[in-house]
Amino acid sequence: MRVSVIGTGYVGSVSAACFAELGHEAICVDVDERKVSMINAGKAPIWEEGLEELLEEYAGKRIIATSDYDLAVQRSDVSFICVGTPSDEKGNIDLSIVRSAAMSLGEAMAKKDHYHVVVVKSTVVPETTEKLVIPLLEKHSGKKAGKDFGVAMNPEFLREGKAVYDFMHPDKIVVGAIDERTFFMVSELYRGLDCQVTHTRPTTAEMIKYANNTLLATKVSFANEIGNICKKMGIDTYAVMKEVGKDFRISPHFLNSGAGFGGSCFPKDVRAIIGKAEELGYEPKLLRSVIDINEKQPLGMVRLLEQKTGELQGKRITVLGLAFKNDTDDIRESRSIPVIEELLRKKALVTTYDPMATEHMRKVFPNITYCDSASEALQDADACLLMTEWDQFRRLDKEFATMKRPLVIDGRHLLDPKDLSMKIEYEGLCW
Ligand code: UDX
Repeated sequence: MRVSVIGTGYVGSVSAACFAELGHEAICVDVDERKVSMINAGKAPIWEEGLEELLEEYAGKRIIATSDYDLAVQRSDVSFICVGTPSDEKGNIDLSIVRSAAMSLGEAMAKKDHYHVVVVKSTVVPETTEKLVIPLLEKHSGKKAGKDFGVAMNPEFLREGKAVYDFMHPDKIVVGAIDERTFFMVSELYRGLDCQVTHTRPTTAEMIKYANNTLLATKVSFANEIGNICKKMGIDTYAVMKEVGKDFRISPHFLNSGAGFGGSCFPKDVRAIIGKAEELGYEPKLLRSVIDINEKQPLGMVRLLEQKTGELQGKRITVLGLAFKNDTDDIRESRSIPVIEELLRKKALVTTYDPMATEHMRKVFPNITYCDSASEALQDADACLLMTEWDQFRRLDKEFATMKRPLVIDGRHLLDPKDLSMKIEYEGLCW
């Protein structure tokens, strides 16, 4: 089949590349000419494991990129909306980019004689597809949904860094289609993947995505709350959660306590569904606590540090890890950000290192020190805060020895001091 993908962020570019891998033709659409030319040259517009290899293989053959909606709609059967849905200043979802994508698609569909399907893949609060996207498509195309064109909502469950793998190995594929014809066409795109495709209403599909992400975020905040209580009693919360996770009803995943969750999805999605619930007159107390715990969690790193070192003014503190998790250069909602803010507020001298995310963080904190290696960052430091679970941070024995004081506060359960060849002063955030 022929698909067009609107938006070439991590969801759009990965979807286009993976649809090509499944044998389809994909047209990527983006207003950003730089991204368009990168894709046409077989280069990935973002870092994502395995993406560049697929683009290199298929660019100019099964994948092309353009900024022309008319061309994309004329030459495809299905268009996926994969644009960003950021938070507005109140934390609610900002649907302006979805709105303009739907308008542009509608205008392009007005010029097409054949049936077309529009699929919303962006994470949107329930009712967006039915109450915003369909009316806009109808208005701007002059056509009728369910008759002249099909509409579906097809959420993604892709982890950043592992998005290509997750696309090709899904646990579930949900297609919230307005009718059977649309459902059939969208399901066909996923033929070849070893996964059942579930047909729901668009609103149900939208809610599945939010329920999925907010439950995972809830597990992390739950693990952090138990972890904080454990820390007060000298109990190793990892030993606790290891046993808890053996219960098949719970599963061992997303029970790792630490500095909290970041990224482009969890914080934004939990806030967006809180906003939607409030709009409906419901007070979502549990979800509010999930955010509240997550906001306080990183500050525990600085509190522990102060307990050990006293006043932070003038002390050289090394923050290892700036990305919101390992294997990505993404710093959105990274827990390092509130930690660095707090250190600066307390007038510490902040030195950092991250294998991938330095350039992004430079824009947030232009005046802290960025090093090219962990060893450079640790030299003569008064203390070190481990903020991201990069594998290379597990093997820093020799580098810790070069610190003025080898005090390490671990926010990700990366180290077991017993395994280190030298003695350090070690504090786990919740263990
Ligand atoms: C998440 C969802 O997993 C994915 O399905 C969705 O489509 C997008 O959001 P992602 O943001 O890439 O993916 O990151 P994920 O690997 O889920 O981790 C999110 C955050 O939670 C990270 O900051 C991570 O460090 C933290 N986390 C995760 C914990 O603190 N403890 C855990 O046990 C697991």
